[in-house]
Amino acid sequence: MTHVTRYAFLVSPSHNRVYAQAAPALAVAEVAVLAERAFEGRLRDVVTTTLGGLPYVSLTLDDAARPDANGTDLALLSTLSSAYALFVVVGDPSAPDDATLRPVTRAGVDLFDSDLLTVQKYAGKTNEDFTRLLVNVTVAATDRPRDLAGPWTTRPDGARRRLRVLDPMAGRGTTLNQALVRGWDAAGIDVDARDVEAYATFLRTWLKNHRLKHTAGLATLRRDGKSLGRRFEATVGATADDYRAGDTIAVELVNADTVHAADLFPAGHFDAIVTDAPYGVLHGNRASGTRGPGGRSTPHDELTRSPVPLLTKALPGWVRLLRRGGAVGISWNVRVAPRAALEDALRDAGLEVLGDVRDDAAPDPWHGFEHRVDQAIQRDLVVGRKPR
Ligand SMILES: C[S@@+](CC[C@H](N)C(=O)[O-])C[C@H]1O[C@@H](n2cnc3c(N)ncnc32)[C@H](O)[C@@H]1O
Repeated sequence: MTHVTRYAFLVSPSHNRVYAQAAPALAVAEVAVLAERAFEGRLRDVVTTTLGGLPYVSLTLDDAARPDANGTDLALLSTLSSAYALFVVVGDPSAPDDATLRPVTRAGVDLFDSDLLTVQKYAGKTNEDFTRLLVNVTVAATDRPRDLAGPWTTRPDGARRRLRVLDPMAGRGTTLNQALVRGWDAAGIDVDARDVEAYATFLRTWLKNHRLKHTAGLATLRRDGKSLGRRFEATVGATADDYRAGDTIAVELVNADTVHAADLFPAGHFDAIVTDAPYGVLHGNRASGTRGPGGRSTPHDELTRSPVPLLTKALPGWVRLLRRGGAVGISWNVRVAPRAALEDALRDAGLEVLGDVRDDAAPDPWHGFEHRVDQAIQRDLVVGRKPR
């Protein structure tokens, strides 16, 4: 016998501000990726709907084959970047105006206060909700998509460890904070020393203000007697007991050029690599020296402002750092580089592109993420997986 529950969630109002009209469509694409990767076909009928004049996404979940005894399904729904309030829909789903919504308490997948994600404000920050979406769809693309539900992944030998996420162009750490809040070990690289200093100052202050037991320090990273750059490193206990037991979350940010990523961390170390590439607007592509005066754009600049030359140089190193079955997710500005160029760069580095148009699995949620950020930026994301 099938047991199907209909859920609806209110799309987060902050999502509406970030994405303007695209918010419900992006929410649907995020759920559809989770449905494809983490629910073995049990999550269906994902649609936008208006209830009481507000945008909701509704879906059905079949839990006959896999009753949600340990709450993993609910935790997965609770991780969605777009879900504000979650409900079970009672009554006739074909008559939405008569629907009754029964509130469902979301699973507590975030270990820390949300101000970790929202306090920092600076030019060039990647929106924290979009970063969460990018992190979610990248981890969903790995060969262990249900790892999204909590802090842990299970190693092939059966032991568990925290998930490990790298942002190889991390800026002031929006991705690192999204990983930390989930209890994942987070590492970042950025070529701008001011970003590393600013993140170190922010995180230390935040940890102190929240009275969390931690260690934190800035030091010079050396290998074979050579200086590889400044490195900020912190370890955090989610609780004082965890800290005392040595069960801590690691965060680090290294000031280096990302093309040297493979020198900085052990091979096969990360489960997911997530980055928001330079847009060619505010941040330039500094390794290839293409940052124009004031970052101003002219049509003539379009090709040189593309992140593709830098990505092509950096991706082989990033892929070395990824475990087999791990995934890379990159967002970029489609106004300075076409999707095909990003997909080619991922394939050339030995990754399988998710939603690759050359494989005809339909429907394809992976092409549903393009949206307008502002006049100069039309953003999309692409995800590739390292073969097992
Ligand atoms: C779009 S921003 C990322 C912003 C970040 N997600 C945040 O919210 O703070 C792109 C970043 O790439 C960095 N970057 C550009 N070229 C780089 C390189 N060759 N190596 C490392 N980082 C680089 C820039 O310094 C910038 O911080």
